[in-house]
Amino acid sequence: MEQTFVMVKPDGVQRNLIGEIVQRFEKKGYTLKGAKLMSISRELAEKHYGEHKEKPFFEELVGFITSSPVFAMVLEGDKVVSSARKLMGATNPQEAAPGTIRGDYGVRISMNVIHGSDSVESAEREIALFFDRGELTSYEKQV
Ligand code: CMP
Repeated sequence: MEQTFVMVKPDGVQRNLIGEIVQRFEKKGYTLKGAKLMSISRELAEKHYGEHKEKPFFEELVGFITSSPVFAMVLEGDKVVSSARKLMGATNPQEAAPGTIRGDYGVRISMNVIHGSDSVESAEREIALFFDRGELTSYEKQV
């Protein structure tokens, strides 16, 4: 069973989209293993987005993600890493299909509502960056 890291970005939190977004993943059948509303420090943002450090939009990206709280979560399910990205839609909301989260709610690439890990390896790294082991639950569904 895979786990992935998903984060509602500051624009999604400010537009009261947390519930709608969590519901999409829950309705699809994924299991929420951990979640929290949190502020991201510059240090954490630079680690999380380290692969983009040389990109021209890096400062904008770090500035935006640290500007106000995000809603971070860990989801579990079969092939959840790639499936969650399909539910999110293309990175650029202007290219994301209607029916996807970014297609329905995103405005522009720098404010694209949501982030999701792009591989199983990234998911492991990002989960460890954002969550202590004790913050993640371990349980079997009985319903
Ligand atoms: P995310 O999935 O969080 O991963 C990296 C982020 O960089 C991406 O979503 C976008 O929000 C942002 N990004 C990617 N390309 C650009 C760009 N050309 N200009 C501004 N932001 C970008």
